[in-house]
Parts: sequence; structure tokens; C-alpha cells
Amino acid sequence: MVVLGIETSCDDTCAAVVDHGRVRSSVVSSQHRFHSPYGGVVPEVAARQHSRYVVGVARAALAEAGVSWGELEGIAVTVAPGLIGALVVGVAFAKGLVLSLGIPLVGVNHLLAHLQTAFLATDFQVEPHVGLLVSGGHTALFMVRAPGEASLMGSTLDDAAGEALDKAAHLLGLGYPGGPALEAAARGGDPHRFPFPRPLLRRGLDFSFSGLKTALAVHVAKHGLPSSAQEMADLAASYQEAVVETLVHKAMEAVASSGVTTLSVTGGVAANQRLRDALSAACAPLGIRLVIPPRPLCTDNAAMVASLGECLLERGVREGLDVDASADVLMGTWGAEDCRVISRGGT
Ligand code: KG4
Ligand code: ZN
Repeated sequence: MVVLGIETSCDDTCAAVVDHGRVRSSVVSSQHRFHSPYGGVVPEVAARQHSRYVVGVARAALAEAGVSWGELEGIAVTVAPGLIGALVVGVAFAKGLVLSLGIPLVGVNHLLAHLQTAFLATDFQVEPHVGLLVSGGHTALFMVRAPGEASLMGSTLDDAAGEALDKAAHLLGLGYPGGPALEAAARGGDPHRFPFPRPLLRRGLDFSFSGLKTALAVHVAKHGLPSSAQEMADLAASYQEAVVETLVHKAMEAVASSGVTTLSVTGGVAANQRLRDALSAACAPLGIRLVIPPRPLCTDNAAMVASLGECLLERGVREGLDVDASADVLMGTWGAEDCRVISRGGT
């Protein structure tokens, strides 16, 4: 099926076309320049910018794919979770499209869409596996059985890994978005110079990053901001290492406890090179297959939405025109019941 995907859950306006499991186009219009003066995403600004750009981004996705409006066979849109004003823009636009084109609509859960990138990255050649989802709003481990079918194994009790990186970067004055800024600052740094805590390492598959964030705040309050480039690099590298080591440890524990032999890592933080290297080093000696999608599929995009949408549409899933966006509650056809416990707003 030729499906147009639309993603507006946070600060990227995205549209993509997939056709029989293949990505024909994927367009992302980042709002970073509008939010960076504030040091984080401003929900109202996000909604307004989506409203301004979503039509142009969808047109660009069609043009890049060489597909006309009339050739589309379905529309997939992210309905939850996310910033509610931002989600509503995409959902309303999708409804307008299906009304005018007379084609089916399907709603997609943003988290299951991130997990979908493991299928996209392997041409659907991936067996049931553990999925580590690490983004700005979520950090969770899933048992992924098939596209759109996953159950929760563990999740963060407070902050997400991406949030911990973003807030640390903000505190250190490194800018927004924080994950890539902290990664750049950490280059050449000594990851063992500053001893940051590895939270909940021995306590099951849940995560907690708020204590780590506090440890950095206490360090800065006591010692001030780094006074040299080397000290900044060491501090950033030490903090990043604490996040990476925790994620790797929990992911490996999840794989061991589930008995599967494949691990996927998806979401914006999966773009981090240190995390990718550390996971490869942990998986290789155990013969575990590691699936990490290319970077453009890790951060928010609509290819993952269109792809999961196509799988759902092929299974006969359809949404009525009364479908609502939801910041938090994930249920019904677009979400595994289990996802409900991990949704905490944000994305
Ligand atoms: O999946 P995503 O684009 O949006 C959400 O659904 O949240 O993830 C965004 C998160 C942000 O916290 C951002 O700082 C982080 O992913 N991120 C990174 C990198 N690129 C994006 N974190 C670490 N290293 C990166 N290279
Ligand atoms: Zn996301």
C-alpha cells in the first residue's frame, strides 16, 4: 500500500511515504531554531509551527517520493503520546486528507512507531526481540513480537535518558537539543574522571535518571562550571558514560532474562555513538544480534509512522473520523495496553 505518514508529537514536523514496506521519502522539518532561545520545547510554539509547516512538509514528502495525492491508499498519523497541542495539528490535518481523498485513516502510537524502525532497518528480517527505546520522553524495555505488538518489560520511574542528557547540557550551558551537544562536548573527555551514580543497577529492569541529574547539579553547585575545555569534556564524558552504562546493563539483563538473541535500540538517544559502541561491545562476545537503525530513523521521523500504519492497515485496522489525540493514555488499536503505564506526557 502507498501510505503517507504524519508525525507532529513534539518539535519535528514530519511526513513520509512508504510503499510495500519500503521508505519512498522521509521529510523532517526541525523546529530547533524556534525553541533554542528557551532552552527546551515550548508546547504552544510547537503546535503553531506544526500548523504552519505541516502542509508544506507533506507536499515535499509526496514530491520526493514521486507520488501524487490521488495515488495514496492510506494515511497514518501519530495520535499518542506527545504534546497534546502538537498532536492535534497532525491528527486534524490527517482527517482533512482522508475526507478529501476518500482513503482509510489509521492512528499510530509514537512508541510503537519508534520500535518499528527495527523492522525498517532490517527489511522486516528480525525475529521477536528485546527493544530498548530511548528518547527524550521515554526510556523503556519491550518484548517486541511483531510490528505494533510489544509488551513492556521495564521503564523509567522518573526522567527519560534523553531528558537527563538534555537537562545536563542545559545546566552546563551547552545548548539545545542537549543530547548531541553533550556528545560533542564529551569528545576527548575522560569518562572515568568524575564518579556519577549508576542508578538502580541491581534492581530489575526499571530505570531512574533523576538522581544522576541531581548529582550533576550538586557537583556544579559545589565546584562551579568547568573552567577549562578539558574539564568540560571530562565532566560531559563522565555523565554520558553513567547514562550509557546504565542503559547497556539493563538492556543486557533484559536480553538474558527473556532468552531472545536479538536486541534493538531505537529513539533519539540511539543516535549517540558512545551508546552504539558500548552496545556493540556488550553484544558481540555473547553472539547477540544488535539492531540499531541509521540515525535519521532514530530521531523523530514519519517513516516509522507510515511503516507501522501500513502494517496496521493491511491487518484491516481503521480509525473513525472521531479519533482523538492523547497526550498520555494509550489504548485501543494504536497501542499495546501495556504502553499505558509508561506514558508520562512529553514524547
Ligand atoms: O526520539 P526523539 O527524536 O524524540 C522523542 O520522542 O523524544 O528523541 C529526542 C531525544 C532528545 O533528548 C535528544 O537530546 C536525544 O534524543 N538525542 C541524543 C542524540 N541525538 C538526539 N542523545 C544523545 N546523543 C545523540 N547524538
Ligand atoms: Zn520520538
